[in-house]
Amino acid sequence: MQTHLKGRDMITTQEWTLDEIETIMEVAYDLKRKRAVGEPHAYLRDKTLAMLFFFTSTRTRGSFEAGMAQLGGHAAFIDSDTTQISHGDTAKEIGEIFGRYFDGIAIRQCDWDFGNQYIREVAAASRVPVLNMQCDVYHPFQILADLMTIKEYFGRESLRGKTINVSWAYAASYQKPISVPQSLILLMNRFGMNVRLTHPPEYKLMPEILEQAADNAKRSGGSFEILHDFDEGFKGADIVYPKSWGALLTTSDKDESAKIGKKYTDWITDERRMAMAKDHAIYMHCLPADRNIEVTDGVIDGPQSIVYQEAENRLHVQKAVMALTM
Ligand code: CP
Repeated sequence: MQTHLKGRDMITTQEWTLDEIETIMEVAYDLKRKRAVGEPHAYLRDKTLAMLFFFTSTRTRGSFEAGMAQLGGHAAFIDSDTTQISHGDTAKEIGEIFGRYFDGIAIRQCDWDFGNQYIREVAAASRVPVLNMQCDVYHPFQILADLMTIKEYFGRESLRGKTINVSWAYAASYQKPISVPQSLILLMNRFGMNVRLTHPPEYKLMPEILEQAADNAKRSGGSFEILHDFDEGFKGADIVYPKSWGALLTTSDKDESAKIGKKYTDWITDERRMAMAKDHAIYMHCLPADRNIEVTDGVIDGPQSIVYQEAENRLHVQKAVMALTM
């Protein structure tokens, strides 16, 4: 267990060692138990967190705000539209100024080819930890919650050799960021898992992330493969994580992107596909999902789905990271 994490930013799990990530897990399990039995755990009494959102949220906002209150502190919800950012406040100014008011700065900025850079600029100017609530490249807290959920399901020590299928799925709602699949293939590969990335050719991820994922697999003794057949991805998998993302590396044009997506409307997770995975396979999704387009009600509400435990664990891992860093 690591005890030197005060002041650390959480922008990507790739910048945290395995031992540090295991520390987050241990603290998260402890905080989950404490909440379940009603044991007070006000580790951040009198501390404040700025939550700066440039994009909508249900789970991230709710879990960070509830988490700060449960830790004895306060979280301030700040909608970027209500700030002076559009009138000139720079990332550096946000880091400098919020760093003087708050004990942590959490940011969601998902704009393609900009969000991560913005968060890094705030972090460079901030004297307090900066927490990435999702950017264009990474969604670290979602993936930490996913790791906690998988460990709870399969046993904390036995992820080695398990196969996770991180797959694209069709959705009609909007061009979702690629931060979830990218963060998944980076983190799960560090625990000796066999990571399968499945997507139509147009839905590729960033080449540098693929390289890092392959490198992580080599170091951990896991494996990393890329498939382009939806059904193949399900075959023999222990964990299936099919979700939609945008063709961001193929086109920046919304109409063209929608046209590409229409070629793959049959990439929907249904009972027939779930039956191709192992009998004990679990279905995961970060939510929100396009029901009966991306996944059938039967699967997402079915016995193999663990989406609500997954959403709950957002609360526990975020509290762990805040307690350790703030
Ligand atoms: N999974 C997730 O980040 O949910 P929200 O977009 O609702 O925060």
